[in-house]
Amino acid sequence: MPKDKPYSVLFVCLGNICRSPLAEGVFRQLVKQRKLEDRISIDSCGTGNWHVGKPPHVGTKAVAKKYDVSLSGIKARQVKDEDFDSFDLLVAMDQSNLSDLKRMRGAAQANIICLREFDYNEKDLNVPDPYYGGPEGFEEVYNIVDRCCRELLDEIEKDL
Ligand code: 4NP
Repeated sequence: MPKDKPYSVLFVCLGNICRSPLAEGVFRQLVKQRKLEDRISIDSCGTGNWHVGKPPHVGTKAVAKKYDVSLSGIKARQVKDEDFDSFDLLVAMDQSNLSDLKRMRGAAQANIICLREFDYNEKDLNVPDPYYGGPEGFEEVYNIVDRCCRELLDEIEKDL
């Protein structure tokens, strides 16, 4: 029996300009490829507010273009209280984002995990922050995000 409301996923990093917008774009593309657009809704945000309203980082845009991932319409926003009630799953890019989100969650029931829990051959739970490095950092983020998002979507799809 199809559920009446789409399953909602919120990708969260620190600034919402490097890692989580790329995760949003990659996950959206995978969801589209599997024809699940009507059953899964996707967004991203940051725990910080420094870049609110800004488009993704130039390095994120370059790697997204290289792999044909659309980041159309994505503008940075900060996580808000309602997110902890309205999203089924919050996916943190690193352990610092995870602990910040858990602290902000309060009494809400939100399910909060790290994306790299789906990187089954890797113990490090952190998607490295590419903000201060060169273009190779964004390539590494893309590879991690791409393989983890496939596994995450496999898990979500089982329960739709
Ligand atoms: P993100 O990367 O969390 O992947 O978007 C960062 C973006 C901005 C900053 C840090 C990390 N910053 O310090 O402004």
